[in-house]
Amino acid sequence: METIVATVDKNMDNEKKYKQAVDILKSGEVVAFPTETVYGLGAIATDEKAVQKIFAAKGRPSDNPLIVHIGHQEEVSNYATGITPEAEKLMAAYWPGPLTLVLPKIPGVIAENVTPGVDTVGLRMPDHPVALELLRTLRKPLAAPSANRSGKPSPTEASHVYEDLKGLIPLILDGGKTGVGVESTVVDMTTTPPAILRPGGVTKEMIESLIGPVQVENKVSDEKAPRAPGMKYTHYAPEAPLYLIGSESDTIGAAIASLHNEGKKVALIGPDELDNPEADWFFAIGSKEDHEAMAANLYRALRQCDLTDADVILAVETDLTGVGAAVMNRLTKAADGKRYKD
Ligand code: TXA
Ligand code: MG
Repeated sequence: METIVATVDKNMDNEKKYKQAVDILKSGEVVAFPTETVYGLGAIATDEKAVQKIFAAKGRPSDNPLIVHIGHQEEVSNYATGITPEAEKLMAAYWPGPLTLVLPKIPGVIAENVTPGVDTVGLRMPDHPVALELLRTLRKPLAAPSANRSGKPSPTEASHVYEDLKGLIPLILDGGKTGVGVESTVVDMTTTPPAILRPGGVTKEMIESLIGPVQVENKVSDEKAPRAPGMKYTHYAPEAPLYLIGSESDTIGAAIASLHNEGKKVALIGPDELDNPEADWFFAIGSKEDHEAMAANLYRALRQCDLTDADVILAVETDLTGVGAAVMNRLTKAADGKRYKD
């Protein structure tokens, strides 16, 4: 299959490109498109056969629920019930935006393979002009996980999608680099209090300021049966082992010296301020004060590590306030929970 990359930007006549995307989706195929978090691989969420093509292209198991994207807030009641006043408040404040709400699903509307084994549905309204225009032209919901091959970091640029899915999907809408850079915050609204299942751009602080205390699911160390089936999958792991490490330059310097002694090459991911010229590769992801920048640049840095011949990757920890929680959640998964110890 030939994969077309169609650039959509403000200075172009984009109507034909949206029409092409809509025609492909209506024919039961998949299309990759930008959102404000990461690129998504979309299929019409009521079309079971089309949704099956998402799993095939990604090479991902099909027992993990997918997020359903909508173009207008009012559509929520077509797919979900039990919309609490708290859910209403969150939608009013943070939609469109990087927030997915898990709500009781109305049976028989969304295809079974979008929400396998659960009686809920995760819904979100993305805050990206291309995603919104696509949804509003299509006038149907899109099931869309990140548009990467399973086992790779989520794509934050159209070129990442092309690298992973070239020949496997018919169309990529290229809307440039995404903004937030990590996947949306997922909040389960069916428990009391609601639970953050995955941290993202809408932070715990932002949620609690509106609806009071919420629970936080600690996916990395949680031994219980997972509430979100996605939790049981090991996430992206770079080719070289990745270790978390504290932010002091001396600690990092000592770790690099010791790894060099063992004949190992080291890639370092961390804030701009780091001063460790002894690292063989350094991927700066933003100022240490700027968690948003770190989130925006993290997945590209992980992809860049895989292009080096580093034997070990060290990733510098950040604090858990604000979007720092999402950055640490993704890094901890990439490290499989490992911290560097000499
Ligand atoms: O930012 C994002 O959310 C991106 C972009 C493309 O919009 N999409 C994304 O979708 O990350 P996806 O389908 O990969 O997210 C699936 C994860 C599941 O692994 C699970 O953690 C949670 O979202 N999820 C979705 N539906 C759920 C449900 N009904 N119950 C519990 N968790 C659910
Ligand atoms: Mg993903």
